[in-house]
Amino acid sequence: MTAGKKLYEGKAKIIYATDDPNILLTHFKDDATAFNAQKRGSIVGKGEMNCAISTHLFQQLEAQGIRTHWLDRPNPNEMRVKAVKILPIEVVVRNIAAGSLCQQTGIPLGTIFKQPLVEFYYKNDALGDPLLTRDRLLLLELATPEQVDQLQAMALQINQLLSEFFQNCGITLVDFKLEFGLDAAGELLLADEISPDTCRLWNQDVSDPTQRVMDKDRFRHDLGNVEDAYRQVLERVLAQPIQP
Ligand code: TMP
Ligand code: ASP
Repeated sequence: MTAGKKLYEGKAKIIYATDDPNILLTHFKDDATAFNAQKRGSIVGKGEMNCAISTHLFQQLEAQGIRTHWLDRPNPNEMRVKAVKILPIEVVVRNIAAGSLCQQTGIPLGTIFKQPLVEFYYKNDALGDPLLTRDRLLLLELATPEQVDQLQAMALQINQLLSEFFQNCGITLVDFKLEFGLDAAGELLLADEISPDTCRLWNQDVSDPTQRVMDKDRFRHDLGNVEDAYRQVLERVLAQPIQP
């Protein structure tokens, strides 16, 4: 699989064209950023680990009926995906209070919700990815009302499937961010990646609130042992066979 023209370079990935206009090649980088790229660094081996974790999770979700952009993983840090038009919306699902939700609402860290919370953020670095209301999202014409309903429903379904998957790994899925794209037929597909860069994952074997963190919060908050945490997630994820 040879990469064609570079189409886009983001903070953690590079997207290349291929000889098939319906297929793109995603290259996962070791680069890490946080707080809208105010903090920059690198996590050794992250590209390969996130590509492998995302591959396994996309395959698992596909086996359970979720349509994703994933095609295959021709190289350790490269994924072939269906070409989709990415919606400029970050869909966040939260099961437990953490991160910006705690900062913005005062809800204590670790509060377990009776029902998952689904939020939409505007994927726009210049504006700092602000939280959107449904009406703002529609005003900006980022999606149709039907698509918003479908995003909400897909996000909740994916949350159920991923929460159960991570539970089997001895990991609590605290929250995560999803991106979706439209294929040529206008169907919504799950896109981007699902990895410790885009999820909060807590080790159920550990109660200490710092030690249990297995995700990018280790990098964001300088908690150390970032690579080890990603490696642990990789090993536990790959140990779970894909099940329908
Ligand atoms: P937040 O608490 O900072 O809003 O993050 C919620 C979830 O979304 C968390 O699992 C981390 C993930 N996330 C991303 O994947 N990309 C981002 O740019 C941000 C801000 C969060
Ligand atoms: N990926 C985002 C950034 O750099 C934020 C984050 O994940 O915390 O800017």
